[in-house]
Amino acid sequence: MHILVTGGAGYIGSHTLIELYHAGHTAEVADNLANSSVEAVRRVEKMLDVSIPFHQLDVCNAQALDQLFSHQPFDAIIHFAGLKSVGESVQNPLRYYSTNITSSLNLLSVIKKYHIPHLIFSSSATVYGTPESLPLTENSRTGIGITNPYGHTKYMIEQIMRDFAQSNPTVAITLLRYFNPIGAHESGAIGEDPHDVPNNLLPYIAQVAVGKRPEVQVFGDDYPTPDGTGVRDYIHVVDLARGHVAALAPAQPGVHTYNLGTGKGTSVLELISAFSAACKKELPYRIVARRPGDIAECYADSQKAAQELNWHPTKSIADACRDSWRWQSQNPNGYR
Ligand code: NAD
Ligand code: WQD
Repeated sequence: MHILVTGGAGYIGSHTLIELYHAGHTAEVADNLANSSVEAVRRVEKMLDVSIPFHQLDVCNAQALDQLFSHQPFDAIIHFAGLKSVGESVQNPLRYYSTNITSSLNLLSVIKKYHIPHLIFSSSATVYGTPESLPLTENSRTGIGITNPYGHTKYMIEQIMRDFAQSNPTVAITLLRYFNPIGAHESGAIGEDPHDVPNNLLPYIAQVAVGKRPEVQVFGDDYPTPDGTGVRDYIHVVDLARGHVAALAPAQPGVHTYNLGTGKGTSVLELISAFSAACKKELPYRIVARRPGDIAECYADSQKAAQELNWHPTKSIADACRDSWRWQSQNPNGYR
């Protein structure tokens, strides 16, 4: 299949390009580089020895998007493009609503106009808000207890896509709810490259390991979890990328929703310890206050993706820490 990958220069998008080509697909990338570097795509091209057309465009620009589709037929779209910083979304909610929702609306318009049969959307475990019970299945309650505009955009876009699918019965839409993606490609050539202070735990730990930051701040050790620190379902980004390839298998029209997680919870202290083992030094950390909006625990039931997509994550937390450390130590300044 020939796939348009929006946001393909980003963290998950660049890893997905590799897995798409390994599976025999081809791709083009549309990205405005708001949070990424074209160097990521160049490195993927080098690794695969292929040329991947790169369109530097804002998916919120309906005209530019229409022009792209008028010149090139696509068999499917994987829509990664969007803004993802939880804290920034609280500071600047309009930018988040505008970017994430407008880009999705524009894509749905071209899907309708150009009869694209399948859209895969990057949703998030954040749509589950405060879990009623664990593990989270695709039927778990959504929308209650989402604490930030970023999370609201994912919840709203899912609803918009369901409404769109109802009125366009030939289109398949796959909503992939990612848990906590971590790690990097095992080559060390591509990985996560936060432009500012990392919001997420693993890239923060990696920057402590490489000496860019003095210590990890652990946000609370008084949660009702085994060691008191927050527990999450960390999924290796390469396993996650393969989930997109699995989801490309011919899908029936309608909306399909899948959790992509491992089903296993790991605490903040366990992750720091795993990374310390990977980089072979004890990483300093300090317990500080809880971060507002955080939940104690979150992990997936991914049986549905296993059964229907034959998708099975294969990589461990140790693999993710080793690969992330390889990327971080070989590229201390990311792509710059
Ligand atoms: P990322 O920031 O690395 O990638 C997003 C890409 O989209 C970037 O390359 C950015 O330049 C591009 N982009 C942003 N706005 C754009 C626009 N208007 N037009 C064109 N391109 C635009 O983030 P990521 O971690 O790779 O996340 C990819 C997707 O997965 C996002 O939609 C994110 O919300 C979602 N997601 C991420 C996580 C996570 O923890 N990383 C978890 C759940 C869901
Ligand atoms: C993980 C754990 C923190 C940083 C966020 C988004 C979610 C999704 C993934 C996109 C928590 C603790 C963190 C630090 C810490 N993104 N922590 N010190 O909050 O589970 O999910 O990213 O969709 O929507 O909300 O991930 O990596 O920020 O935090 O102690 O410096 O690490 O309290 O327990 P989170 P995270």
